[in-house]
Amino acid sequence: MDGTSANLGSALAINFILNGEARTEASVSPTRTVLEYLREDEVLTGTKEGCAEGDCGACSIVMVRNGSDQVEAVNSCLLTMGQLDGTRVATVEGLSDRGGELEAVQAAIVAEDGTQCGFCTPGFVMALHALRHSGETVTEEVIHDALAGNLCRCTGYRSIVDAARAATSGPAEAPALSASPEPAAAELYEAQGQLFLAPKNLAGLVGARVAHPDAPLLSGGTDLGLSFSKNREAFPVTIFTQNVAELKRIDEDDAKITLGAAVTYSEAMARIEELFPSFAVLVHRIGSRQIRNVGTFGGNIGNASPIGDTPPCLIALDTMLTLHGSNGSRDIPLETYFLDYRKTDLAADEVIASLSIPKLGADQVFRSYKVSKRYDQDISAVVGAFRLTIADGIVADARIAFGGMAATPKRAPQCEAALIGQPWSEESAIRAGAAVSEDFQPIDDHRASADYRLRVASNLFVRLHRDLEGADDIEVTSL
Ligand SMILES: Cc1cc2nc3c(=O)[nH]c(=O)nc-3n(C[C@H](O)[C@H](O)[C@H](O)COP(=O)(O)OP(=O)(O)OC[C@H]3O[C@@H](n4cnc5c(N)ncnc54)[C@H](O)[C@@H]3O)c2cc1C
Ligand code: FES
Ligand code: FES
Repeated sequence: MDGTSANLGSALAINFILNGEARTEASVSPTRTVLEYLREDEVLTGTKEGCAEGDCGACSIVMVRNGSDQVEAVNSCLLTMGQLDGTRVATVEGLSDRGGELEAVQAAIVAEDGTQCGFCTPGFVMALHALRHSGETVTEEVIHDALAGNLCRCTGYRSIVDAARAATSGPAEAPALSASPEPAAAELYEAQGQLFLAPKNLAGLVGARVAHPDAPLLSGGTDLGLSFSKNREAFPVTIFTQNVAELKRIDEDDAKITLGAAVTYSEAMARIEELFPSFAVLVHRIGSRQIRNVGTFGGNIGNASPIGDTPPCLIALDTMLTLHGSNGSRDIPLETYFLDYRKTDLAADEVIASLSIPKLGADQVFRSYKVSKRYDQDISAVVGAFRLTIADGIVADARIAFGGMAATPKRAPQCEAALIGQPWSEESAIRAGAAVSEDFQPIDDHRASADYRLRVASNLFVRLHRDLEGADDIEVTSL
């Protein structure tokens, strides 16, 4: 595929399974949101619209994608019709229409009085239906994590959590969408004057990029999706990356782990937890499960936000990016990728193909901290990430990076210099923290004042020291 419609033959339809029935859509706009489609075209109004920006979970549906067996909750407000091609999805209507019996989660919500006005309830049911079929060991922590992306203003969460416990305690029946295999996804779809390109390999992706240099790359859509749901944009061409095989790979050797740019947070979580537990705690706080089930590392780097959570961590971990373009691949350190506010080193014909994160040496430690007003579902004011090499009690090397402190995620060279060669002690940590103001001149905004940012970033050095000394439990600490 070279990305031009002339070379792809005739435009195909979007094929997917909805509540167990095959659907073929040949004329719907590829950037229409799935939520609008469900409510307006299918009149499946059990799926609600609350915020239309991924925050409330009222629009949650469950999805199985591209040959995967994983049943996942996703926000239909940020999902486009093009992304449905080749998937199986179920809405709340698909759960109850099974011989007239309520599905286990629905029955538990009724039994535990988990609903009042009911507006939020379908979203909770779908989030818990996905949990029930996730194959996870369900603990209290897992229940809270599964519900963190769903808001309820009436019932209070106790009765919903009680319902979650009851519904996930027994064996799960077949999920609402398991029956038929999903149809194959097409590489091109065209309707309403809009082209949706969904290449299956890297060469096709670059071909599409060269043919349509102004078209946005769409991965999970948890960032770009706002253009469709809120701004009502209808791009003439959209290039979808999730079906590109090379971008979905996770490779690992003794020295590093390499994540394809379209790997989602949920797909990578098990390996991140094993290799970089502190980073995993932070990744667990990116949006909600619904967001992490589709949001990707490539999208977090690609949007070049100064407050993206993973770039400071990945910079401190010395991550290399592989960019792929019409002249092949080039590898660059992630820290050189961000040039200025929302400006990057990505050429017009290139895509982010993958990111390689070196594993920690025996004498290395890594910690990352996200500072936000709320623990769950909040954008950071500051992220601090620290990789220290400590030999015989002396800091032999330090890679320290912050987000939220400058126009781009950035290293802190003065802080690093203040630590290297020093004994690893609270005094050294405080001295290094004092150097934060030499490295950064942050701005005031609605998330935090410049003074707060400087002070909290500086204090993170003390937290780091206490954490490494075992005085601070990273699992339960929320700043
Ligand atoms: C409710 C909500 C909560 C959120 N919470 C957080 C949070 O806590 N922390 C955080 O950091 N972010 C958060 N986000 C932002 C977003 O979820 C992340 O940035 C996510 O990683 C984006 O990934 P995506 O695959 O959805 O990207 P998309 O929306 O698909 O794309 C984002 C950008 O990256 C570009 N891009 C995608 N893939 C590539 C590629 N291969 N090469 C080059 N460019 C590419 C796209 O063109 C686009 O400009 C949140 C978003 C929402 C809606
Ligand atoms: S409508 Fe609120 S998350 Fe989709
Ligand atoms: S029951 Fe009313 S918002 Fe949840």
